[in-house]
Amino acid sequence: MTTRYEDIARIARDDATFSSARRSADSGLGFVIPEGKASPQYPIELDPPESTIYRDLINPLLSRSAIEKLVPMIAQHVTDVIDGFIEDGHADLVQQLTNPVPTAVTLDWLGFPREDWKRLAGPIHDLFAARPGSEREMRGGMGLAFMGDRIVEIMNARRAEPADDAVSWLVQQVKPNGEPFSDDEMTSVIFLLIAGGVDTTTALTSSTLVHLSRHPDDRKRLIEDPALLDVATEEFLRAYPPAQAMARTVMRDTEIGGCPVMKGDRVLIPWVAANYDPEAFPEPEKFVLDRDPRGHLTFGIGSHRCPGAHLARAMYREMVTQVLERLPDYRIDPVGPTPTESWGSQSGWDHIPVTFRPGPQRRTATTKSATGLDVQLLTLAAVEPIAEGVVSLRLAGDGELPSWEPGAHLDLILPSGKVRQYSLCGDPADTTSYTVAVLREKDGRGGSVEVHEILAAGSPIRVRGPKNHFRLVDAEHYLFVAGGIGITPISAMVRAAEQRGADWKLLYGGRTRASMAFAEKLKEQYGDRVELVPQDELGHPDLAAAFAAAKPGTQVYCCGPEGLLTAVENTVGDLDLHVERFTSSGTDRVAPIPVDSKEFIVKLARAGKEFRVPADRTLLEAVRDVVPGVPYDCEEGFCGSCETRVLAGQALHRDTILTEAERAQSNSMMICVSRCASDRLTLDL
Ligand code: FES
Repeated sequence: MTTRYEDIARIARDDATFSSARRSADSGLGFVIPEGKASPQYPIELDPPESTIYRDLINPLLSRSAIEKLVPMIAQHVTDVIDGFIEDGHADLVQQLTNPVPTAVTLDWLGFPREDWKRLAGPIHDLFAARPGSEREMRGGMGLAFMGDRIVEIMNARRAEPADDAVSWLVQQVKPNGEPFSDDEMTSVIFLLIAGGVDTTTALTSSTLVHLSRHPDDRKRLIEDPALLDVATEEFLRAYPPAQAMARTVMRDTEIGGCPVMKGDRVLIPWVAANYDPEAFPEPEKFVLDRDPRGHLTFGIGSHRCPGAHLARAMYREMVTQVLERLPDYRIDPVGPTPTESWGSQSGWDHIPVTFRPGPQRRTATTKSATGLDVQLLTLAAVEPIAEGVVSLRLAGDGELPSWEPGAHLDLILPSGKVRQYSLCGDPADTTSYTVAVLREKDGRGGSVEVHEILAAGSPIRVRGPKNHFRLVDAEHYLFVAGGIGITPISAMVRAAEQRGADWKLLYGGRTRASMAFAEKLKEQYGDRVELVPQDELGHPDLAAAFAAAKPGTQVYCCGPEGLLTAVENTVGDLDLHVERFTSSGTDRVAPIPVDSKEFIVKLARAGKEFRVPADRTLLEAVRDVVPGVPYDCEEGFCGSCETRVLAGQALHRDTILTEAERAQSNSMMICVSRCASDRLTLDL
């Protein structure tokens, strides 16, 4: 048994030395997937290159963008399930929520009819939670046999008459050599799609709900600041990994952390131990809601990293979000939750009996959360590009909306469950709609990309707020300084200052004129009061001159990138300064594109394509244009999902996964952050 993060990650990434092939009967080490009747072997029990065929098959179905499109369906399932018990004032959150939702979502997405959802929810849970030889295991086994039969029936039905579901798409796929997948192969793949994601999501969500009941401070923080769920999800994943371990077979005599192992030995790699290694996560026993534990191994690492991570997170976030919105006061009954009788590597709960204040039957357009913050269901009335990489969103409700003042922002609860804050930039006098502008941020954490790629006019969207931490105080003189998308709150302030008859000036810098939202309009409307400073034409704004010219008592308002804010703070002198920072948490993230990056050529050997990767695009972005299903997750070089074999050329490594020796060999690279050290790369894609 290994316990150190470093060893576990190394073993999981080295398929040649540590094989995933099926365990021998007498190994004595538990394994999460029981033998099925439909197929002699599951893809998870193969090594590359055999397993790669199946990964390539399912990757497009489970890519981040594919899953984001499923979010409205996921949200509806959660809403329907909670509607089923919310008026009772009590429920078993496992049996009535965290188990039925992942089953229904997964089977609905695949194309299983509604009558199968309920029938399979119990057996799937039994399959993983039962002790060997127990009656429960037998029930799980029977459920598995039934599932195998149903998979074959549904595949046949979809071959005859395709529908808009994942099985219909799967049965049309062929292997890279043009051969069809056999029924057994396809059954194994579909079984893993069901079994791999359902009970693990059930377990993670259940553990989270138990934790939040036992730690009211964490619950309160999440209710008050839903944006926290994004990073908190990763800490819950780190602290409560549902599938706690996997095993590998040693293929040649070697050593692990100085301990010799022989060919044929079995090695247990407990993800949970890696997640609690103090070398990797300081004070690991301490649960820290906003720890942001990048690199946890709950989804594994290497060629068998969980391909369903995006689907699992989407289901998880929607369940937790709706529980916090609709049952914010739930309490576990005195009898307590019942842990799963885990026999191997599975953790979780069988029952979480809770009591709560009964709520409305359906999710209404406005829900009052425990803290009094409103969640409003609005509609995207318009989505329009207003500058290079910037779209404006106009959100409307059924009637009058809560009022706001310049400097206020809205929390947008995106379809994926991510919560992002955007400053209001419309006219506060418009009481029927809100306007925000969103810059597509390549080095962001996916929220702005989701806005740009997924949201469209007519989409429903949940929002909280408006809230205001950047108020415009009364004054005679204002100096507004905006950088890039920081113009959004400033544009509303400019309008208010003008209406107040105040003396004001705006200094607005941006990368290029075309990238500066509202620039021309502001100039046209306010003339010389607005000084535009496109960097490619005029360099940086002259802050020192602007502050020197400001009258005593001038209130300086600044919003923009961190560099601008720091420059303003260092130059502003005695003037009153108000700043708004809206960068994502932490400044130590790896920027996906280094400042001195260069263009290079990449060849995808299997796809037979060759193209340029411009200096301002990541290799992952460029590859996704050609291979949309290529896996990725963190986009910061620490999760390993985008690891790709390098067939020729020298990579410029920028990840935090590869060791020095691996970097020197350069057999593989993380294409989300790494680039090319020369001018040409060939990848195994
Ligand atoms: Fe996580 Fe590249 S996407 S390492």
